[in-house]
Formats: sequence, structure tokens, C-alpha cells
Amino acid sequence: MRQDRREFLKALGLLGGGLLAATSPWLNVFAEVKDTSAERLRLGIIGPGSRGRLLMGFLAKNPKVDIVAIADIYQPSIDAALEIVPTAKVYKNYRRLLEDKRIQAVLVATPLNTHCQIVLDAMEAGKHVYCEKTIGYDMAQCKKMYDKHLETGLVFFTGQQRLFDPRYVKAMQMVHDGVFGEVTKVRSWWNRNRDWRRDVPEPRLEKFINWRLYKASSKGLMTELACHQLQVGTWALGKLPAQVMGHGSINYWKDGREVYDNISTLYIFDDGKKMEWGSDIANKFYGLEEQILGSKGTVELERGKFFYEEIAPQPAFIQMINEWQQDIFGDTAFAGTSWVAETANPNRGEYILGKKPEVDGSSLLTEAFVEAALTGRQPAGIAEEGYYASILCLWGHEAITRNERLDFPKEYYIDYDVYGTSESQAAEI
Ligand SMILES: NC(=O)c1ccc[n+]([C@@H]2O[C@H](COP(=O)([O-])OP(=O)(O)OC[C@H]3O[C@@H](n4cnc5c(N)ncnc54)[C@H](O)[C@@H]3O)[C@@H](O)[C@H]2O)c1
Repeated sequence: MRQDRREFLKALGLLGGGLLAATSPWLNVFAEVKDTSAERLRLGIIGPGSRGRLLMGFLAKNPKVDIVAIADIYQPSIDAALEIVPTAKVYKNYRRLLEDKRIQAVLVATPLNTHCQIVLDAMEAGKHVYCEKTIGYDMAQCKKMYDKHLETGLVFFTGQQRLFDPRYVKAMQMVHDGVFGEVTKVRSWWNRNRDWRRDVPEPRLEKFINWRLYKASSKGLMTELACHQLQVGTWALGKLPAQVMGHGSINYWKDGREVYDNISTLYIFDDGKKMEWGSDIANKFYGLEEQILGSKGTVELERGKFFYEEIAPQPAFIQMINEWQQDIFGDTAFAGTSWVAETANPNRGEYILGKKPEVDGSSLLTEAFVEAALTGRQPAGIAEEGYYASILCLWGHEAITRNERLDFPKEYYIDYDVYGTSESQAAEI
């Protein structure tokens, strides 16, 4: 669903803008310092596969965008993309698309192992870039891409749509305002019960279509899923972890894949606070969630809800049942009331935005990119959040493969005050 940015700002009670600057500084992209209503961004799409076409769908409806070209090496992707924008010029080689002088910006949605070269070439050719997450195949690639953005001054966005999801933006403001007390832990997971495979028309295309399952092209669940949820954790806690440890294994989908189907990781902050992330794709009972655990309350961002730690007095009927239970257990010889386990809080919580979430930020993220590319103004923090999200998942992946507890690799700090890694501070960390 496409969400208009006025609706978005209205949902946050923010039509004037500016108020969320401390929590989500990238929203300054909508500050309207320049009227772009009559302008059109000439955009190229590189890799209009599954994600690329979803984003193309939003962009094609944006009156400020002209999708002038697509580049892909797989004919079925080209055919499907032309159904969305039949007039787009088709390139089989992305480098030819980059030579097209009309094109001002590109969206890169190819497999992970191809991102870095394409993004470097695109910026070299003077194009603003939106690159899907995870940005690089390893940490060194991510740094090269970020440095190229700084060197060229071109706009650089990454596919972290939660940064533009109203429920996340609003909840982070509440977290940072201390509504949920002191946050000591962030727990997140992404579980499924399916093999994560795509149908392959011919066996020779297996590794090309199912690139996510092979080491040469992907780091599996860490780069595909953790990248989103780890960023939510550092956004909430306002800093980067100091150490990471983890374990990965293939336990259920022993089908020739090379990437883990069962992962647990633990990110530890310098003060001992923690961020847990895991994924299991042989059980989906708990689905996916990011939980922010504070001394006064909990936020569950995927559900779009928050829960206060102390709930209002219960209705008389429930109280009566509780008292009966206390009487029964109180009479047993082996335990008093302390026997009653600390079962989960039955509090049903409240919606962060007052209603069930309807959008996930992807449409707004593309709108923000268009605005930034048209004005040539890079919004604060957007490239840095994307960069660190990628570093966090790749660093975690390294801890898993080396089977070690790793310190944050200081050579990958960038100048970003929000996480205390501006150049002057990084030396002291
Ligand atoms: N932000 C999100 O929530 C989200 C969701 C899904 C995927 N993604 C990301 O989007 C990217 C693509 O994922 P997908 O599921 O769309 O994959 P996909 O396999 O469906 O699409 C990739 C496309 O790139 C094309 N391609 C491959 N190599 C190319 C090259 N050298 N030049 C041009 N085209 C090339 C393929 O032919 C295909 O059409 C990945 O980085 C993935 O992590 C992000």
C-alpha cells in the first residue's frame, strides 16, 4: 500500500515536521525546503526481481518519478518489470544503463554479492543510489560503499524501511523519552516454517535463483533478516554493541543449502546491556518480533503494541478467580504463594499508533529517496543507519563462522554521533 507522506506525518502528529529530529533525524528529508512538486526524477532500476518490482510498484505511482530504464540479466525479471513500466528502456548490462546520461538515480536490488561493484560504479557515474540491504557482502565492502558516498557527495539510501515506518518512529520517540523506563535488553527473532526456496525452472539456474542459500552469494538469515532487526535494537539503545557471539547450524533443511537454518546471536554492550537475535526456520509459532524490554514497559514493534509493566487493577471477577487459586495453592504443603510461577503478563497492551499497523515504511522510504535525490540533500543518519545495520549482521556472521566472541572491529567505525562514533569519540571506545 502506498502511503502519502502527509498521512505519515499526520499519523505521527507531526505535520509541521522537526519534532522527531533527535530520534529519527532522517525525517528532515520531508522538511520541504525546496518545492519539488513540478520535478521528476529520472530513475533506473538495476535488478527488478522480487524486491525490485515491489519497490518499482511504489515508484511507478509516484508523480515525481520517471522510471526510464531497467537492467537485468534474467529475461523473466525483465518481462515482469515491463508489465509495471512498459516504456522503460531495457539493458542487459547494468554498466550500459549507467552510461545513460538522462538517468539521475538508480535503485539496486540485485543479490547481495553483486551490490558493492554496482553501487561503486553507479556513484562513479554520478548517480544517486538506493541499495537494498544488506549493502555489502562483507564489512570491507560496506566501508568502501559508504566512503564512496562521502567522496562523491551523492545521495545514498539503503533498504531499511523500518526507519520510515510510523509505528517504529513513534515508538522510538517514546523509548527515548523514557516512557518505558530504562531499556536493558532488546530481543528479536524471525522464525518461519518453510524452506526459503524458490522454484527453479531449470537445474542450471539453482544457484542463480536461490542465491540466498549459497555462501558465494549470501550470508543467509543474518544478511537477509537480522540486518533489519539489529538496526531496530541499536536505534532503541542509541549505541553500538561492544561484543558479539553466536552459533549457527543446519538442523532441519538438509537439502544442499550452505547457509544456516538455525541461528542464535548475542550482542553485548559496554555496560552489559544485551541484544539477542535469532532465527529458526523449522518452527513458526512465534513468527517475528522485536521486543524492547524496559523497566516500566515493553514494546513489540512488529505487532505495533506496547505494554506497561504495571497494569491497571483487574476486574472483580478475575480478582476473585485469582483469590480462589491462591487459596487452593496456599493450602498445599509443599509451597506457599511463592510457588506461583512468574508467567507472562496478561496485559493486552495498546497500539502504538492507536490502531493495527497498516504499512511497513517501504513506500515512504522510496518517497524519501526521491525527495533526497531531487534536492540533492542527503538526510541525516540514513546512510549511517544502513551502514551500521549491515556491519552488525556481517560482524555477527563472522562471530558465528569463527566460533569466537568478537570485539567490535574499530576500523569500521564511521563518523556518526548518534552511536558515539564520531572520529574524536571512536578513539576512546
Ligand atoms: N528491504 C527488504 O525488506 C527486502 C526484502 C526482500 C529482499 N530485499 C533485498 O533485495 C535484494 C534482492 O532480493 P530479491 O528477493 O528481489 O532477489 P531476486 O533474486 O528476486 O531478484 C534479484 C534480481 O537481480 C537480477 N540480477 C542478478 N544479477 C544481476 C546483475 N549482475 N545485473 C543486473 N541484474 C542482476 C536477477 O536476475 C533478479 O531479477 C537483496 O539484496 C535482498 O536482500 C530486501
